[in-house]
Amino acid sequence: MWIKKFTDINMMKKDIEIRTMTIEDYNEVMTLWKSIKGFKIRAIDDDFEHIKKFLDRNIGLSVVAIKDDHIVGSILSGHDGRQASFYHVCVDAKCRGLNIASRMVEEAIERLKEEGISKITLIAFKKNFAGNIFWKNQNWKLNTDINSYELTLNEGNISSVVA
Ligand SMILES: CC(C)(COP(=O)(O)OP(=O)(O)OC[C@H]1O[C@@H](n2cnc3c(N)ncnc32)[C@H](O)[C@@H]1OP(=O)(O)O)[C@@H](O)C(=O)NCCC(=O)NCCS
Repeated sequence: MWIKKFTDINMMKKDIEIRTMTIEDYNEVMTLWKSIKGFKIRAIDDDFEHIKKFLDRNIGLSVVAIKDDHIVGSILSGHDGRQASFYHVCVDAKCRGLNIASRMVEEAIERLKEEGISKITLIAFKKNFAGNIFWKNQNWKLNTDINSYELTLNEGNISSVVA
């Protein structure tokens, strides 16, 4: 029984492909984002036009995970020539615990290394318990010695939180 379960999980892991995100994935990726409890989706940054702009500026850096012909995970990844950022790192709730996020992160990191980027940053909300455990497990450093500042340039870029 235990061996069968172990074998089933390993089979599920094998069936997952990590590939580059393209703008053709937008609708499916947005459906995934809208299913992730607690996710903040921004009216402007996350619309089709701005995601297209982001992907065009950061060719081949963002990744999706595919299982049974469906997108079950995504990372938006981009850099400014100096450092990179990950956004909207997520895995479909039905597919968690299969190392999909770890594999996507590994792949996205490799692609940034090829671009000569030395550092990646991301935001994890303090109350996001699973998210913070995930990054600690990946050996990412938690910055407790900095304050994060921001300036809003467009008040229309409102965020809605997935309930
Ligand atoms: C965080 C998230 C992306 C992890 O995806 P995942 O594919 O399930 O993660 P993995 O299977 O690759 O997990 C890798 C390791 O992280 C740790 N981990 C992941 N989720 C965990 C959880 N809910 N509780 C405890 N540890 C967890 C485990 O140690 C795991 O290692 P193990 O498999 O050897 O035990 C997923 O839970 C998610 O989409 N959450 C909602 C969105 C989110 O919070 N994104 C992060 C924003 S900062």
